Amino acid sequence: MKRLVILISGRGSNMQALVEAGLPVVAVLSNRADAAGLAWARARGIGTEVLDHRAYPDRDAFDRALEAAIDRHRPDVVALAGFMRILSAAFVEHYRGRLLNIHPSLLPAFTGLHTHERAIAAGVKCHGATVHLVTAELDHGPIVAQAIVPVRLDDDAERLAARVLRGEHQIYPRAVRWLLEGNLEINEGRVRTRDAQPQHLWADRPAEDL
Ligand code: GRF
Repeated sequence: MKRLVILISGRGSNMQALVEAGLPVVAVLSNRADAAGLAWARARGIGTEVLDHRAYPDRDAFDRALEAAIDRHRPDVVALAGFMRILSAAFVEHYRGRLLNIHPSLLPAFTGLHTHERAIAAGVKCHGATVHLVTAELDHGPIVAQAIVPVRLDDDAERLAARVLRGEHQIYPRAVRWLLEGNLEINEGRVRTRDAQPQHLWADRPAEDL
């Protein structure tokens, strides 16, 4: 049986999607005790643990403690699901090829925060979400799957975010399953599925958008 550890900092809706997809989640870890997703996980009998980053002298010390806590669960894959911490190069290297993140934009556009506001301000017509393998550079790393969401003229950040989130909940479980099952192959930074499954998803596409 493969083993998945999820890291969260807040709401945890992506974590929920991973659990509900039947993935083998063995633990949910958070850097914040008040992360709403923790209660949801506990209520389902999933082991949770909190490591408050403020209790450590610096990033490296926290990352080392986090790594030890994760490794006690012997994960095959670690999924970041709204984990709001920049990770040190040593941490990322330790989980090379096993660490996934979901980011609310079509990378490489709109790395960082406030992606929905920035997409609307830029006037892009397509936005979305990306699952990628984590590398030392923030929001970079080989792209595993993307959900494409049309931007409507009357969108505000909140409405757009809600539609993107629905796309996130569809692609993240698929991508994590691919990695757990050894279905991904990386060649010169490009990721493909061994069984040629589509790695893009047209989320929320009514007929008038065609
Ligand atoms: C999601 O939009 C995810 O893409 C980003 O942070 C948000 C987390 O939401 N990394 P949730 O905690 O999974 O509901």
